[in-house]
Amino acid sequence: MTGDVADSPDVVAAFAAEPAPPPTVPPRVYALANQKGGVGKTTTAINLATALAAVGQRVLVVDLDPQGNASTGLGVTAEQRKIGTYEVLVGESPLAAATVATRIPHLSVCPATVNLAGAELELIDLERREFRLVEALKDAVAANSYDLVLIDCPPSLGLLTVNALVAADALMVPLQCEFFALEGLGHLTRTVERLRRALNPKLFIAGIMLTMMDRRNNLALQVESDVRGHFGDVVFGTTIPRNVRVSEAPSHGLPVLLYDNACAGSQAYMLLAGEMLRRRKLGIPPRPTDAGAP
Ligand SMILES: Nc1ncnc2c1ncn2[C@@H]1O[C@H](COP(=O)(O)OP(=O)(O)OP(=O)(O)O)[C@@H](O)[C@H]1O
Ligand SMILES: [Mg+2]
Repeated sequence: MTGDVADSPDVVAAFAAEPAPPPTVPPRVYALANQKGGVGKTTTAINLATALAAVGQRVLVVDLDPQGNASTGLGVTAEQRKIGTYEVLVGESPLAAATVATRIPHLSVCPATVNLAGAELELIDLERREFRLVEALKDAVAANSYDLVLIDCPPSLGLLTVNALVAADALMVPLQCEFFALEGLGHLTRTVERLRRALNPKLFIAGIMLTMMDRRNNLALQVESDVRGHFGDVVFGTTIPRNVRVSEAPSHGLPVLLYDNACAGSQAYMLLAGEMLRRRKLGIPPRPTDAGAP
């Protein structure tokens, strides 16, 4: 049933064309992107960042989505949201001045302000419009201010996401196990290839994470099996279960790890953080699609 989606030549070709990564320096800046809406990008940004901070990593979340959900979910108040990513992108504020500490030790966020909604259009007329974020992050990276930067992208492949992919060393793709889940993946990976050729040669796909997994749902299991079959170890071993505590937490301005650290969602995000850190050290094993390449 899912075969026709997973077997899409576009998707497979896009992945096959991607050279096997391993970067020589551990990646630091990760974009969480998938132009499909509601797949768990923001939830993963919030909770993965929290889990990474909980094990001592110094983490910055850059909220690049005008919806501002990552900022809200990390408990950023309206008062703290006077300047944010919009002001950084248009050059009105340095990143450091827009960044606020969260209640979680080691975890900071550059929040989204309402102005960000107009940024896609305004950026078009700015010089070096695709490089605004990478340039804004330069000082923080040079000063080694953060071990990891996670960029939460909006559900589109517009200029905001392009800025994230130019600033990123690596892309992580949250994917919900449902019919059509893979439809947009070909588009995303082709965008990555174009970006790599034109704007950011170091960009690679660090992993696909399966989100909102319901193991009682046969279709979800079938999609999982298709995705793992095609993309092999690029898919994180950890899956994030559908868990009501995860969806309740943002309305309290809390990551689920603070809201209920024993629930299945919290446990999964801790495991995912561990897996990400191990991969970061070791690099990713080549995909099956690369194995047969001459
Ligand atoms: N593991 C989970 N269990 C239950 N609900 C979840 C889980 N992950 C995410 N959700 C819920 O699913 C919805 C979409 O998640 P989220 O906002 O993270 O997706 P998104 O990809 O960032 O969306 P958008 O494309 O609009 O930015 C939210 O209501 C969120 O609370
Ligand atoms: Mg989001």
